[in-house]
Amino acid sequence: MRQTPSAVVVLAAGAGTRMKSATNKVLHRIGGRSLLGHAIHAARGLEPVHLAVVVGNQREQVVAHVEQLDPGVVVAVQEEQQGTGHAVLVALDQLPPVDGTVVVTYGDVPLLSTATLTTLVETHTQRRNAVTVLTTRLPDPSGYGRILRDSEGAVTAIVEEKDATDEQRAVREINSGIFAFDAAVLREALGRVDFDNAQGEMYLTDVVAIARRDGRQVGAVTTSDLWQCEGVNTRSQLARLGSELNRRTLEAWMAAGVEVVDPTSTWVDVTVVLAPDVSLRPGVQLHGSTTVASGAVIGPDCTLTDVVVEEDASVVRTQGSQSAIGAGASVGPFAYLRPGTVLGVRGKIGTFVETKNAQVADGAKVPHLSYVGDAEIGEGANIGAGTIFANYDGVHKHRTKVGRQAKTGSHNTFVAPVEIGDGAATGGGTVVRRDVPPGTLAVSTGAQRHIEGWVLRKREGTPSAQAAQAALDSEQSTATAASEEPEA
Ligand code: UD1
Ligand code: CA
Repeated sequence: MRQTPSAVVVLAAGAGTRMKSATNKVLHRIGGRSLLGHAIHAARGLEPVHLAVVVGNQREQVVAHVEQLDPGVVVAVQEEQQGTGHAVLVALDQLPPVDGTVVVTYGDVPLLSTATLTTLVETHTQRRNAVTVLTTRLPDPSGYGRILRDSEGAVTAIVEEKDATDEQRAVREINSGIFAFDAAVLREALGRVDFDNAQGEMYLTDVVAIARRDGRQVGAVTTSDLWQCEGVNTRSQLARLGSELNRRTLEAWMAAGVEVVDPTSTWVDVTVVLAPDVSLRPGVQLHGSTTVASGAVIGPDCTLTDVVVEEDASVVRTQGSQSAIGAGASVGPFAYLRPGTVLGVRGKIGTFVETKNAQVADGAKVPHLSYVGDAEIGEGANIGAGTIFANYDGVHKHRTKVGRQAKTGSHNTFVAPVEIGDGAATGGGTVVRRDVPPGTLAVSTGAQRHIEGWVLRKREGTPSAQAAQAALDSEQSTATAASEEPEA
């Protein structure tokens, strides 16, 4: 029997008013992915023939997000939120006729995993159930639909809290809202669901009782992992689920051989890839498509987004995005790598250095206090402390090229477009406006001039003038003493 569902329907038409946000609830993110992104990802893991998302509130935002995330998703618009049953009906209307298994999930339940959905579908298929519901037992079940079972323990109905008797409310087993249905049973039963309940809505949960009354088999999969059933309604829940997701992500990486010194201050997106023997020091956030190779040490205190870090590199107190850091290279402390930074093998981008669209070749170093924009620095070159790559003339950006093994002096300005040749050198404070040929020393500062006594005359009476006077006096007396020494 085929285990792959014909369709997964993700419900996401709700308003999410308790988030108090201009952004739709399902677009809020944890672990580097929107809530809806997590739901779609888990659903895709089942490899369904069709995947539908039901949208309603703020649908422009949600639809744009879905199209960008997964163009294969069928978007079904539910104009008015008339209940979960109605939402599923809207989705089925939008899909070609389906048979087999239809799975229903929610767009705001981000920790639900493909593994749990697979268990649900497998149980549903193997037991030949008409309906299988994912349930869990909560210490405090308030707000949720309660699972009602007969004396044999078979599920007979789901009753919403608002429609429940006191006795039913005492039931701790709740409806997660996640179901597997036989498509034909679902469609037929939805045709018979009414709006006759406390909320005046068309409840998907009513399908359970209808199927049972028709003599069909209804089953349940009960999970002890409460987090997988928890939906986000408030910002507080968003933070709690975000932190639990992160805890799970870090546990998985630690099991795979990654050192995480302080899991409470380390945040890793679900999309990040780490190798065994990576070390994450306290205060590290890794986002997006960031990958870190074996032996690399990240942190303390780094935020890296879409950064590739190769073997044995060290990255300390650094903010970086869309950049690549070569094997054995060293970055920071206090470096800012902006998009397009590529640091070669054993290269260095050091303290208080900002880079942008800069290729720093193998073994090249920019150790201190510099801005490197739109640049190409050759193998083994060394850039002096406090150098500015002046790439912007106020209208256009230009490139600077520094050749292999060039050694430039401190406090230089490279006025782009300009090229410093292989093995060339520059003096301290040089402003390079013309290309420097290979092997040439460029010096642009004038010869040092002295205006003697200027401070004594122009800053008379200041501590500086007094210090200068004292130094001159003592020089004078030393000279006098020397001249008074009797000659041998
Ligand atoms: C629902 C279940 C309840 C279950 C709980 C689990 C029903 C009748 N009740 O209650 O048994 O314990 O979820 O969280 O099914 N949605 C739509 N269109 C609608 C209504 C809802 O798309 O017309 C979507 C929402 O965006 C949300 C999900 O369905 O993602 C659940 O809706 P919500 O209003 O939160 O249902 P609950 O009342 O919490
Ligand atoms: Ca809810």
